[in-house]
Amino acid sequence: MQRSRVSVRGVDAVGRYALLRVERGGLDPGEPGQFFMLSPPGRVLPRPMSLCLAPAGELAFLIDPVGPGTRALVALRAGDDLDVLGPLGHGFRLDVERPLLVGGGIGIAPLPYLFERLGGAPALLGFRNAHFAEAARLIPGAEVVLEPTYVTERIEPGWDILACGPEPMLQAVAELAPSAQLAWEAPMACGYGACYGCAVPIRGELKRLCVEGPVLHAREAA
Ligand SMILES: Cc1cc2nc3c(=O)[nH]c(=O)nc-3n(C[C@H](O)[C@H](O)[C@H](O)COP(=O)(O)OP(=O)(O)OC[C@H]3O[C@@H](n4cnc5c(N)ncnc54)[C@H](O)[C@@H]3O)c2cc1C
Ligand code: FES
Repeated sequence: MQRSRVSVRGVDAVGRYALLRVERGGLDPGEPGQFFMLSPPGRVLPRPMSLCLAPAGELAFLIDPVGPGTRALVALRAGDDLDVLGPLGHGFRLDVERPLLVGGGIGIAPLPYLFERLGGAPALLGFRNAHFAEAARLIPGAEVVLEPTYVTERIEPGWDILACGPEPMLQAVAELAPSAQLAWEAPMACGYGACYGCAVPIRGELKRLCVEGPVLHAREAA
């Protein structure tokens, strides 16, 4: 984990979302599913963001502008400074035999880097509509379903599922595939275990998702 002030390279529109690209500097991109705390200008607390892509010399984050922090991040311009802390948490285990990437909405954010690190894998992505689904182009060959169809209607047995998406989607995937690896979300203030803001019950105990997770096996989280 490293704290660094880096320069913004650009912010590219990707349908409803934005891809924020920053210089990598000395930052380690980490493992797919790990996250970084990004400090939006004018906000007290940093915001957790999964690493989406790690092109040469850069780190890129796919951001859904849902509130003041994320809107400030997507309003950054090339040359602006950004404080970044990471990589943080536990990512996906890559030693699986038949990986299937499953993503819903902005939950696809960690999947492009996961796809690259696996050397390619089939992907099944669900979105609200075609505008949101433009982000699927970040994962070559991905199969896309739009609501009212859900990704869980298309999952067949026999895959090692690595998934990220809204909680109801993750719960449904966990029921179908107890061995799935699932990337969960919780509000996070520090990102490294100090504030307990992200504590969730896991196997009957309160655990900090930023330290134990965000990626957990489905059977751990159930
Ligand atoms: C490990 C991790 C990785 C993440 N990766 C990404 C990513 O790659 N791209 C991305 O766009 N977002 C990601 N998020 C979610 C992102 O951090 C939040 O959307 C952001 O912090 C909201 O900040 P805000 O100030 O814009 O909005 P706020 O005003 O803080 O929130 C806007 C709305 O979103 C809800 N919300 C905020 N944070 C969360 C959360 N963590 N879980 C569920 N609901 C929340 C709020 O209750 C509110 O309704 C991630 C979250 C975690 C925990
Ligand atoms: S975010 Fe502070 S303990 Fe997890």
